[in-house]
Amino acid sequence: MNVRELFSNISGTYDLLNRVLSFGADQRWRKQGVSLLPHGAGVRVLDLACGTLDMSLQYLRQGEGEVYAADFALPMLLTGRMKASPTLDPRLHLVCTDGTRLPFPSRFFDAVMCAWGVRNFSNLPGGLKEIRRILKPNGSVLILEFFRPAKTFSKIFSKTYGRHVIPRLGKWLSKDGGAYDYLHRSVQGFYSLEEYQGVLKDSGFDIQIAKDLTGGISSLVLANLNGMSE
Ligand SMILES: C[S@@+](CC[C@H](N)C(=O)[O-])C[C@H]1O[C@@H](n2cnc3c(N)ncnc32)[C@H](O)[C@@H]1O
Repeated sequence: MNVRELFSNISGTYDLLNRVLSFGADQRWRKQGVSLLPHGAGVRVLDLACGTLDMSLQYLRQGEGEVYAADFALPMLLTGRMKASPTLDPRLHLVCTDGTRLPFPSRFFDAVMCAWGVRNFSNLPGGLKEIRRILKPNGSVLILEFFRPAKTFSKIFSKTYGRHVIPRLGKWLSKDGGAYDYLHRSVQGFYSLEEYQGVLKDSGFDIQIAKDLTGGISSLVLANLNGMSE
């Protein structure tokens, strides 16, 4: 099963599982991340790999600005669409697309946010190239991600809760046997926070903030496009 099918299959229980498995911390992490992004009339932000729109809705709640929410799993987008209140609608634009081939002009966005999305991209360099292309000069990118654990607490957490509890609870609540096994596997096969900062720097970004959240269970990176990018 590919990543698009995997998320399409669990779209109906995705939010519930997020709240339960993170004990509600996921919304706190989103709020913290989104508060670092620019707000204002005319500001355009891309929510890349938006899933069920929790980042988009958080952004719209925090202030002025428009959100383009993009994901290649249509059922995730449609599940999210049901949560958007009509008053937020004019500032929210949904786009079903692959994140490595975005249907936007170059230098269109002031910021990109991507929460637990980049790890799932089969073409990571392609994704970063697209982010670079659609950002305005000095635009910023906010990444929330489960990086490969590098510290003692997060390693132990991953080997116990991540390896044994999440797949079982996930299977029980979502009725999908593979999706939450995939989560653990993909985290183990991904970059550490430090390695990912290197990838961003090599792709033309300057790191502004890179920090662990809740003992490194999740992490946050804020970076700006530097002047050396085309
Ligand atoms: C773990 S979910 C994160 C959703 C959301 N950002 C959140 O805060 O909950 C990962 C999302 O990335 C999407 N995704 C993965 N690879 C993608 C790609 N190449 N293009 C577009 N969306 C992608 C999946 O469909 C899924 O909705």
